[in-house]
Amino acid sequence: MPDVSPNDQLEAVARSLIELREADRTRLAELKVELLGRKAGKLTQILRAVSTLAPEERRNIGRRANQLKQEIESAIGGRQAELIDCIGSSEARDLTMPARDAWRGAVHPVTAVIDEICDIFREIGFSRVSGPEAETEDYNFTKLNIPLDHPAADMQDTFFLSPGVVLRTHTSPVQARTMEQYAPPIRIVVPGLVYRRDAFDASHAPVFEQIEGLVVDEGISFVDFKAGIDYFVKRFFSKDTAVRFRPSYFPFTEPSAEVDVQCQVCKGSGCATCHQAGYLEIMGSGMVHPAVFENCGIDPERYTGYAFGMGPHRITMLRHGIPDIRLLYDNDMRFLRQFVE
Ligand code: PHE
Repeated sequence: MPDVSPNDQLEAVARSLIELREADRTRLAELKVELLGRKAGKLTQILRAVSTLAPEERRNIGRRANQLKQEIESAIGGRQAELIDCIGSSEARDLTMPARDAWRGAVHPVTAVIDEICDIFREIGFSRVSGPEAETEDYNFTKLNIPLDHPAADMQDTFFLSPGVVLRTHTSPVQARTMEQYAPPIRIVVPGLVYRRDAFDASHAPVFEQIEGLVVDEGISFVDFKAGIDYFVKRFFSKDTAVRFRPSYFPFTEPSAEVDVQCQVCKGSGCATCHQAGYLEIMGSGMVHPAVFENCGIDPERYTGYAFGMGPHRITMLRHGIPDIRLLYDNDMRFLRQFVE
């Protein structure tokens, strides 16, 4: 390259760096020879000619050429590593090897049931709200018309965190919190965890989900209550699922009822799942007790309402025919994988 100045030659070599950093394997090998080849490499030639330059030029060109050599060598090394990482060398890969399944996540079946239930209620004007799991005795019991020395406070065996503070035994305290905070009309659903001192067995767990529901307005009657529950059951299960209201007792509702739905497994004829009853209980419910309204600053002369509390774990078991509640807690992939869509 006798006609081109050493500086221009260096510039040309420097520009190759750009191409080099994006070269494929073949081009990279070519560039390596073109630039650093022992005989005709452009940079090799420049370096070889350095000793023939005038002393002043010699120093500058020499320094720059050596610097470039290092840059090129490290760029080649870097690009080679990249190519091995992302494309792979065909010699090292067995393209006939079966592909490994990518793990795909899914919503837990209980969570799916909770979301579905809340969505059904949202369509008919209910808001989804939440409340604290560490709750005062006042909200968990007293405001709900359960005196602390009443057997009802004992009905649910309670975990105490400190004097006056419990792990909530049901989601009903959120009824009281909501009524204190918002004026009617109120329409809410409250999903959340509750805690009871129960041993873990096939049908009990010490911590489980509940969904509370509360409706408060002027002129809400027992008919609205029954119609509301019936609508939900038919939406969630199926149009032809029979619903049964059984008289019951809760201190915070009057009258109170337990709601049974036709067994989804035997359709009412009796089987092991429903213990031959043909029906399974899905919730406690009733008309809000006037004392609860009073405790929460709502005029019981003006407002009426209904409330319900259901167990998404039980409903999930019913829906899928799951025989043991512990399966919903173990998070065993062999079980959960059935619910990946
Ligand atoms: N809180 C009750 C329970 O946990 C269920 C319930 C809620 C009953 C609302 C009536 C009204 O058993």
